[in-house]
Amino acid sequence: MNIYLDSYPSFGSDDCEALRILLRQVIRPSCRVLEIGSWLGTGSTRVIIEELLVIPDAKLYCVDTWMGSPNVARHLAIAEEYDVVATFRHNVNIAGGSGIVRQLIMNSDDAADIIGSDTFDLVFIDGDHSYEQTRNDIKIWRPKVRSGGILCGHDCECRPHGALRERILSAVNSDSITGVGTSFSAIHPGVILAVDEAFGGSAHLWSEDVMQRSDGTTGRATIWDVVISK
Ligand SMILES: C[S@@+](CC[C@H](N)C(=O)[O-])C[C@H]1O[C@@H](n2cnc3c(N)ncnc32)[C@H](O)[C@@H]1O
Repeated sequence: MNIYLDSYPSFGSDDCEALRILLRQVIRPSCRVLEIGSWLGTGSTRVIIEELLVIPDAKLYCVDTWMGSPNVARHLAIAEEYDVVATFRHNVNIAGGSGIVRQLIMNSDDAADIIGSDTFDLVFIDGDHSYEQTRNDIKIWRPKVRSGGILCGHDCECRPHGALRERILSAVNSDSITGVGTSFSAIHPGVILAVDEAFGGSAHLWSEDVMQRSDGTTGRATIWDVVISK
């Protein structure tokens, strides 16, 4: 099987910037970062590697089945035709991250079972975006973040309130639906609902602030984050 070399845009420049800012709040020598959902290693994984490369003894744990999310047809088609695990390793190599990345080829639940509490400075959730799995990921990974560390994730475009609420509640098993009524072309109902139920207003949504880009244009990231206190 070949590796997948076409582009796969999954993590926009505003999301990259938001994730970098969060990482810089918590990373330190010997820090530990974990992400659930690394896919090809060209999106969030690359950002985290770039930030950790300058930190002594930093490690990034990447948890993924590398089978694609069950509700994303494009994932399943790529996973069927290409060697996604080898693609990930290839891209980690190119980013210079082979020495810091620990690859855990398993599902999120199995990984959480073998990892102790208070282990990570930052956990980034970007796995299966259905409501049930996102809710579960928040529940099982929250205790793994040290006090003062950050639990965060991708694809939370808004809160499930107002006119959008019915549409969000009726599509919580879908990966995404059209973003009519928001600043985004698509939104992720399962993530939006799970984050709101877990944290309510304590979750910081980057989508609620306009980000100024270096080229003068503006945009919005879809990262959510919570600082864990114990
Ligand atoms: C949205 S993609 C991740 C995108 C990646 N973070 C990026 O920036 O390009 C979701 C990933 O989650 C993985 N995944 C889906 N369900 C999972 C589960 N239960 N446990 C672990 N990984 C899972 C899929 O294989 C896929 O690689």
